[in-house]
Amino acid sequence: RPRALSGIQPTSGSFHLGNYLGAIRQYVALQETHDSFYMVVDLHAITVPQDPKDLRANTRLSVAQLLAAGLDPERCTLFVQSHVPEHAQLGWVMNCLTGFGEASRMTQFKDKSAKQGANNATVGLFTYPILQVADILLYQADSVPVGEDQRQHIELTRDLAERFNQRYGRTFTVPAPHIVKEVAKIYDLQDPTAKMSKSAATPKGLINLLDEAKVSEKKIKSAVTDTEAEIRFDPEHKPGVSNLLTIYSTLTGESIAALEQKYTGQGYGALKTDLAGVVVDFVTPFRRRTQEFLDDPETLDSILAKGAEKARAVAAETLAQAYDRLGLLPAK
Ligand code: TYM
Repeated sequence: RPRALSGIQPTSGSFHLGNYLGAIRQYVALQETHDSFYMVVDLHAITVPQDPKDLRANTRLSVAQLLAAGLDPERCTLFVQSHVPEHAQLGWVMNCLTGFGEASRMTQFKDKSAKQGANNATVGLFTYPILQVADILLYQADSVPVGEDQRQHIELTRDLAERFNQRYGRTFTVPAPHIVKEVAKIYDLQDPTAKMSKSAATPKGLINLLDEAKVSEKKIKSAVTDTEAEIRFDPEHKPGVSNLLTIYSTLTGESIAALEQKYTGQGYGALKTDLAGVVVDFVTPFRRRTQEFLDDPETLDSILAKGAEKARAVAAETLAQAYDRLGLLPAK
């Protein structure tokens, strides 16, 4: 079976609808066809300041949410990045293979460092895409399910894999991004030209999966649309309405065309009311299942212990091979 791998940051506690539709749903689907590895990337989270207690709690909460979303430890390897030391080790090797200018071109660093304030960004934040390269290459992943904002990092991964293979002999699988076009970028409900993100200017445009149902309902009902009245999928001219249709269609499985038909002659109010119901029907059982996993810490710990063990077996083999190819003297 081909391999899939992806990672998600534990930073803010609750995942949002962009994470779910853009990435997590694909993780769940790929379990059926791929030998799948999914991890909560706590080492990525510390590129910006974290309260230790919150980081620990948010890491558990992230694992619980991934399980609630449908990751099945019998069918995938689910683990926490810092439990597998090879990530940091291969990360260093990849740092030594990356040009400074090449790293400087990563647009996410530009965005994220701007948010930290000019002089507060760390070297870790700068080299973070390179750690991500190591995350992927360690598992010889063929396919990396992510949203559009990660495309550049997968390109970097491909470049570094090819560079290493060329210099030292075939060592790494060159991975491809698995980006589902329709949901690759879910937009902020208040600013439908910006991606939905936890660092948005206002939380009003962000649907957190663990928010109270009433909060999500209110956010959807106050989503920014446009001054027309027609419900039509047209991302360029009607980004707000199109985003709502995308969310609706993905959560229910009804096609966009069928939704346009269904709402012919109805106003935006009807669409928003129904979508609020759809979202509430999704998040209510999701929140309940997340809580169930949190309430059973022994099971969660044992899932993570098994996941780390399976992940380490693969990661250690790849790292040993890379060290050997580089000419690092093996310890006797
Ligand atoms: P992170 O934690 O910011 O986001 C997790 C996943 O959610 C996707 N995503 C979105 N998709 C569609 N619309 C949105 N508005 C939206 N917002 C977020 C992201 O594209 C991502 O797939 N660097 C990564 C984590 C990472 C990783 C990896 C990913 C570390 N190592 C190895 C893949 C492979 C990140 O910060 O994602």
